[in-house]
Amino acid sequence: MLEPARHNFLEARLAPVLCQFSFESFGQLIKSLEGEGNGPLKNIFIDAITTHETYFFRDFPVFALLKSQLIPDFVNSDRSSVLRICSAACSTGQEPYSICMVVDELAPLLEGHRVQVDGYDISRASIETARSADYSNYEVNRGLSPAYIKRYFDKVDQRYRVIDRLRSMVNFKELNLLDDLGVMPTYDIVFCRNIANYFKVSDRVRLFKQLATVIAKGGTLITGGSEIVPQDVNEFKPIHGDGCVYYEKL
Ligand SMILES: C[S@@+](CC[C@H](N)C(=O)[O-])C[C@H]1O[C@@H](n2cnc3c(N)ncnc32)[C@H](O)[C@@H]1O
Repeated sequence: MLEPARHNFLEARLAPVLCQFSFESFGQLIKSLEGEGNGPLKNIFIDAITTHETYFFRDFPVFALLKSQLIPDFVNSDRSSVLRICSAACSTGQEPYSICMVVDELAPLLEGHRVQVDGYDISRASIETARSADYSNYEVNRGLSPAYIKRYFDKVDQRYRVIDRLRSMVNFKELNLLDDLGVMPTYDIVFCRNIANYFKVSDRVRLFKQLATVIAKGGTLITGGSEIVPQDVNEFKPIHGDGCVYYEKL
């Protein structure tokens, strides 16, 4: 049973889907979803009920931390010649491309290393936008200075396309983070921001317990500013950084 506030929220989000498919009730919509497996209705439903809000360099202190501490620490640790970074719940790609910009700026330090950035999201439409790397004037101006826009985008017909050098660093994949994450490789740094608070507590525990299995020992988990790893998950140690809290995998 949903709380009334959540019920109203879902009704408002799903009303256009009801219209689009001429369903007469929410019950009919749910029944169709149950019978349909992975068809187009499922994707439209997921997009209707999820929030995709994102922008470049969202919560800037996290990217400052990546640049001044996390990547230099990785390089100095001599752990591996491949640095693997994950953007879990990457939405339309602004988070992984911001990571790539930081990586690009640290190119001299990262010489001799290969960097792989993977973006995952449950929403097919978001993953398609992320792969296209094609943004509006409004989107690039949310979080990026003119110098960054000039350096990292090609302007094509009033739109902005991330340059190939950055695009070639990232792979995107459609994935439900509550499914088995055994398909993921081991990561040194995982961004999983602004998603856990949308989950019920048992799903948050599942999410972070699963992420613990794909982060290397000594690796880093970065959550959203108001997202706390639940107490039941004891695989992480919180660390207070400059303007942000992040977690070390034990
Ligand atoms: C608010 S956006 C956050 C984007 C980005 N991480 C940021 O902080 O700017 C949340 C994203 O989580 C995705 N999402 C929601 N539930 C998910 C799930 N179970 N598995 C994977 N992605 C999910 C949504 O599709 C949406 O794109």
